Amino acid sequence: MSLEKLEALREKRKAIELGGGQKRIEKQHSAGKLTARERLNLLFDESTFVEIDAFVKHRCTNFGMEKVDAPAEGVVTGYGKVDGRLVYAFAQDFTVVGGSLGEMHAKKIEKVMDLALTMGAPIVGLNDSGGARIQEAVDALSGYGRIFYKNTISSGVIPQISAIMGPCAGGAVYSPALTDFIFMVDKTSQMFITGPQVIKTVTGEEVSAEDLGGAMTHNTTSGVAQFISSNDEECIADIRRLISFLPSNNMEKAPLFDSEDDANKIIEDLNTIIPEGSNKPYDMKKVIESIVDNADFFEVQPHFAKNIITGFARINGQSVGIIANQPMFMAGCLDINASDKSSRFIRTCDAFNIPIINFVDVPGFLPGTSQEYGGIIRHGAKMLYAYSEATVPKITLITRKAYGGAYLAMCSKDLGADMVYAWPSAEIAVMGPEGAANIIFRNEIKDAEDPQAMRAQKIEEYKSEFATPYKAAERGFVDDVIEPALTRIRLCDALDMLQSKRDSRPSKKHGNIPL
Ligand code: HXC
Repeated sequence: MSLEKLEALREKRKAIELGGGQKRIEKQHSAGKLTARERLNLLFDESTFVEIDAFVKHRCTNFGMEKVDAPAEGVVTGYGKVDGRLVYAFAQDFTVVGGSLGEMHAKKIEKVMDLALTMGAPIVGLNDSGGARIQEAVDALSGYGRIFYKNTISSGVIPQISAIMGPCAGGAVYSPALTDFIFMVDKTSQMFITGPQVIKTVTGEEVSAEDLGGAMTHNTTSGVAQFISSNDEECIADIRRLISFLPSNNMEKAPLFDSEDDANKIIEDLNTIIPEGSNKPYDMKKVIESIVDNADFFEVQPHFAKNIITGFARINGQSVGIIANQPMFMAGCLDINASDKSSRFIRTCDAFNIPIINFVDVPGFLPGTSQEYGGIIRHGAKMLYAYSEATVPKITLITRKAYGGAYLAMCSKDLGADMVYAWPSAEIAVMGPEGAANIIFRNEIKDAEDPQAMRAQKIEEYKSEFATPYKAAERGFVDDVIEPALTRIRLCDALDMLQSKRDSRPSKKHGNIPL
């Protein structure tokens, strides 16, 4: 081959790798953002990223587009290794026609999505785009449509992870929304269906892009995003960490790590962590961290519905999903947002063969018209559905309150928990002692000489009779009442025992989870 041909190839590749050119790269950097290629180099283990389709070009001739050279079509696609495991990715290049998505840009994304699905490997999408390429009209819309379709087909088969690292507007938001996890970078990313200008025109409301669809808005208010990072580097490091807890596909288990933490560790502090007064809060995260390997808990959606905690950890090296009531927020009540957050997480764990551990201290569902009008019935039903449907090992530990419907909704024995443990501080009952005494001892209290004293006495009677784990243990709804200090030992043992769990269900097209 002539040297010219080799030289021409090298030149072409160099030009493509420069994306929209030095000036636009500098603009990207000065906005606090890395370029698509810099992001991919951070995502993958050193020198493992392999680009494909670098030479793809658009075919648009509308509005002068025939003169527009769009290196790599505004999206860099390929594969590489993350901690030695195969992962596919695409990164939109904002320096090239604003990372906008046209026919061929979409086809490049579709190709890596197809490869990821066929190979059974996770796919990561790094989004930074002005949305549908306006000049390409319906071809651009069709590209999004095909991506949504493939997102849906891949759902529950391979992990799909999205990072929003710039604008993501209009229907473009729906591809990330169809994936398993959304990361957003603080201050440099926004997601919205209609932007501030359209909102002002249509409704008269004035809102900044950041307030409308910034990372904090979607992490705290809407619950659309699961993670917020302070910059691109941190975001990509978090994505790598998340992947370490996940299997490559639904036919595999998550990677097993060598646990440096002792499976026989006695944790004395847990014997005193529950306060004397049963309405006093304590930090459930401390309970979780003291039990999981190396106190390493990777929380999912830490800023949304803080009354319930969801996240990944390892126990004896094995990846587990944790769902826990948090007495520090709203006394750990279940509400609409907590139901949605936990149901989604339960289904994610179940889809990817990750055992679920529930830490229960729940006084009930949050009362009130806003909850009832907002549909707490259908939202709460999601939890019942998700737990009942899940066939992964399910372990429930009741630390304190487990009242009424919320006791069931936190994966009681009846919803298929394989093992239910309770601490001696557990109170398993239809409702709290105060409410129960008011109803069942109404007449005695009313007729007593000193109704207040009678009420207090009846509450105490109820507490000692029913607000314990022993009634439930007598019926076998609790498999064992355990000393808190021994919790890690018992959980390590139960997970080991449940390794070979098989649970098959009647075949069906799909269930009909209340939405
Ligand atoms: C074509 C686009 C583009 C788009 C940006 N560009 N968005 N080109 N189609 N959608 C181009 C700009 O013309 C510009 O080109 C370059 O990208 C950089 O854009 P700037 O505007 O200079 O950048 P910035 O000031 O940072 O503003 C970024 C932005 C803005 C907020 C994203 O570009 C913007 O509002 N774009 C349009 C967003 C939008 O309405 N998209 C359609 C959404 S609807 P030059 O050559 O000047 O550098 C949608 C439907 C999907 O996506 C439906 C799916 C079902």
